[in-house]
Amino acid sequence: MNTRRQDQDLDSVARAILAGNDRGGFTIPTAGLYPFQWNWDSALTALGIATYDLDRAWREIETLFLGQWDDGMVPHIVFHLEDPGYFPGPEHWGVDHRPRTSGYSQPPVVASVVRRLLERGANAAAEARAGALVARIDRWHEWFFRYRRDPATGAVTIAHPWESGRDNLPDWDAPMAAVDSSVGDPVRRNDLEHVEAAQRPSQDDYARYMALVGFGRDRNWEPSAIGAESPFRVSDPGMTAILLRAERDLLELADRLALTDRIPAIRSRVGSLERGLEGLWSEEAGAYCSRDLRTGKVAGEVNSATFLAFYAGLGEGPRADRLRHHFDRIADRVRFTVPSYDPAEARFEPRRYWRGPTWIVINRLIAMGLEESGDGQRSERIRRDSAALIGKAGFREYYDPLTGDGCGGDSFSWTAAMWLDWAGRGSDGAPDD
Ligand code: GLC
Repeated sequence: MNTRRQDQDLDSVARAILAGNDRGGFTIPTAGLYPFQWNWDSALTALGIATYDLDRAWREIETLFLGQWDDGMVPHIVFHLEDPGYFPGPEHWGVDHRPRTSGYSQPPVVASVVRRLLERGANAAAEARAGALVARIDRWHEWFFRYRRDPATGAVTIAHPWESGRDNLPDWDAPMAAVDSSVGDPVRRNDLEHVEAAQRPSQDDYARYMALVGFGRDRNWEPSAIGAESPFRVSDPGMTAILLRAERDLLELADRLALTDRIPAIRSRVGSLERGLEGLWSEEAGAYCSRDLRTGKVAGEVNSATFLAFYAGLGEGPRADRLRHHFDRIADRVRFTVPSYDPAEARFEPRRYWRGPTWIVINRLIAMGLEESGDGQRSERIRRDSAALIGKAGFREYYDPLTGDGCGGDSFSWTAAMWLDWAGRGSDGAPDD
């Protein structure tokens, strides 16, 4: 569909977006809607920056770690600068850290990104930067292990929907219904100045998000209290798959950099997370499913993160077959894979945040896993769909998987980065012919 010429034009637009969103050492997801440094956005954005400025890509990650807490946690937002236009800003989080930060974490993709940065250009300076980051990442992964683990399965848990990176996935509806929506700070919907309400979480979702912000703040962000007592505690196959992959990449980094003292602990976490992911398998659903820790209830539905099991290293076998079957069933119902939620379900909404739209970043991770599992066909379908979405609607936050219309924020950093790093390239790494 794309000619080489069009692809080159998109390359320059993508770079211009990343330059425009650069705030000096870190890149905001998009102006207005998300004006600070977001954790997994920054990490994945670094992959795009690395295609033309490797030094700046390393810096993106190093700046993110200025937000790391003493206990090892890397928060989901670092408020390096002031912007009263964003809600909830630092005053609502009440976190005692400089720079100011939020109080929950986000999907830990950083180790996987650092591994790729090092592969792009290994020399003594890059190895020194990677080594310093490995020590910090190790402490962050350890934090998940201590404070965000389902005692029954060993899977990774989240204490706020924002921690999953998939804010209002229908899986969180039932566990969030148990959160008292009347106790949080009053909600100010600044997001609706940038995006229409039908494409964003509801007012009620926001009231409950704020109740959980208040819960953490009232406990002074004490991680064991939050991990054990939060009114929202859910084990998430998406987070589990991402951390498992990240631990494997960290192991590879530690090995390569001869950081041998770290290896036994990382290796043991890999084993534990492998068991954790398998512990979320639902034979009935034929998929890895989230589980509400408070009720033991399993969500039982398929979403885009279901397919991250391949990214986490799932090999051949009956479970992989069942996931591929879900993939094909879903791919047949949409024009642009991979919708964030199963289109066969009643709660599917093709344009509302994480309840149906397609995200290019998730596509990239799924496609990478499928390709590594030897499934070039499905992975290429995802890449071509992603390129077609960008070609049709530009560098948007997410897209309607049925029509390809762009939704949410515009000039979005990680979408631009994924174009440069992947979607705009053929399997040989060159732009499409
Ligand atoms: C939303 C997304 C989250 C992302 C952030 C910034 O909160 O759900 O995954 O990190 O926006 O793009």
